Amino acid sequence: MQWGTILAFYGLGAAAVATSLVTLRRRLELSQAKHRSLAGHAQIARRLAAFVPSYDYDEERFFCSDGAPEKVVLHRRAGFARLSELYKARFAETIRRSSEASEDISDLQFTGAYRVPFQFSRMVRSHLPSGAFVQSSDGVTVTDLDGNRFYDLSGSYGVNVFGYDFYKEAIERGAARVRELGPVLGAYHPLIIENVKRLKDISGLDEVSFHMSGTEAVMQAVRLARYHTRRSHLVRFCGAYHGWWGDVQPGIGNPVPAHETYTLRDMAEDSLRVLRTRRDIACVLVNPLQGLHPNASAPADSALLDSARSAHFDKDAYADWLKRLREVCSEQNIVLIFDEVFVGFRLAAGGAQDYFGVRADLVTYGKTLGGGLPIGVVCGRKHLMKRFRDDRPADICFARGTFNSHPYVMAAMNEFLCQLQAPETQALYRDLDGIWNERARRLNQRLGEESLPVGVANMSSIWTVCYTQPSRYNWMLQYYLRAEGLALSWVGTGRLIFSLNYTDADFDAVADRFVAAAKAMQQDGWWWHDPAMTNKSIKRAILKEMIAHRLFSPRDQRTH
Ligand SMILES: Cc1ncc(COP(=O)(O)O)c(C=O)c1O
Repeated sequence: MQWGTILAFYGLGAAAVATSLVTLRRRLELSQAKHRSLAGHAQIARRLAAFVPSYDYDEERFFCSDGAPEKVVLHRRAGFARLSELYKARFAETIRRSSEASEDISDLQFTGAYRVPFQFSRMVRSHLPSGAFVQSSDGVTVTDLDGNRFYDLSGSYGVNVFGYDFYKEAIERGAARVRELGPVLGAYHPLIIENVKRLKDISGLDEVSFHMSGTEAVMQAVRLARYHTRRSHLVRFCGAYHGWWGDVQPGIGNPVPAHETYTLRDMAEDSLRVLRTRRDIACVLVNPLQGLHPNASAPADSALLDSARSAHFDKDAYADWLKRLREVCSEQNIVLIFDEVFVGFRLAAGGAQDYFGVRADLVTYGKTLGGGLPIGVVCGRKHLMKRFRDDRPADICFARGTFNSHPYVMAAMNEFLCQLQAPETQALYRDLDGIWNERARRLNQRLGEESLPVGVANMSSIWTVCYTQPSRYNWMLQYYLRAEGLALSWVGTGRLIFSLNYTDADFDAVADRFVAAAKAMQQDGWWWHDPAMTNKSIKRAILKEMIAHRLFSPRDQRTH
């Protein structure tokens, strides 16, 4: 062999080793940038989920899963029976219709099954059935089929920012404005022009596209980012929800793995390093709601196994994180997408970009922007919104949708946008955080004065309930709250959403009921706790229980 060939051979070998080392380093950096929770390891979580056995507590175990003494168990039993009687009497018609409908509505079966940790679910469903129907809304209240009025804390998944009466009027007034055209699709009603103008003004971006849901808006934003950067991967942060499309939901809930998604740790230097060094990242998706609970999934009572739920919003720290993210994305030509579908116009009239003082390349909006009707919107920089290439006619970025830009939706949206930019609404936003922070503080003070082991954390009008001492029964609070006339969404106390038309008097009524519910729950013994019990010991006990079931129990066995 000649020297030249030998040297070339060694050269190639060295290059291969160097490449492998770089690849290894990138992989290492990627794993360092993962949050250590299961939410940070989507693929592992999906695999482990398959091993969680199905079992539930029988009547005896239901009341003493934490080893409570007999006296406490008796209190719990009496409280549960009282609550159950109250539900069956007060919500009779609502419950009857709901359980009939549940046979045929898959969504109801799902939400019904996941209101509380699964071990407790069977007993709860049969004794504290949930009503899925409401007849009417008025002010900040909704009324069920039995005529019970509830303060609405569900916020209709975040849609309800200005109060239900506003949306009813927006839909009606809007419908009147487009009635002449009706549901003609494809061609536009001229109202769309004003919507586009207002959206450009609000977002500070150049172009707009209309879709039918937040999920679709996110799909389109990511697709555009991939198309223009010619890179494959999207980055989402641990725990963040961006709709139910597969690529943004790589963990539990998606039957197939998402191979082109990186789930990184929120507010972490290691994640910035990954963005700086990898060459396959097209975009970073940010759901600003995560500022309330970075790296944690949306809190739901079905996951309330113990009292480890925590939340705290530090606006400056989160704004600082977003600024740093912005810098890295600009350096690396990564598209920064703010997914404002949830927080949209709840924090500020200019949305999260305005609220945190950071500009994104693409912004998705939805929910409330539809004026009460279904919507998804992408606003973006001109060069990112283009769906074809002038020099490659067959290389397009396809996106359509039959109902996009529906005239009725455009009209209701127009009502919303006009309201948003009206002087009285701008005034409403002026001290919004001050108002909601003060309300949260007052409620926390009252709960503290009553020595109740519960408190709230908030991001403006978005609240979550946290629990201050280890317990297996915190999820019961949602049933006491309902009995006091507070309507929650199916995730229970994980998310309370207030509309901005709540007056101080309305809020005080909610606070009274909240405190009364927590007191009743305490009196009924659910928050009894052994001083030796910790969140860790609760989790450990549940894990042991699961392993025992996995190994030794037939599928339908109850735990005694
Ligand atoms: C941040 C965020 N993005 C996207 C979505 C999906 O929107 P939709 O439910 O309209 O598809 C949601 C819904 O809750 C959301 O909160």
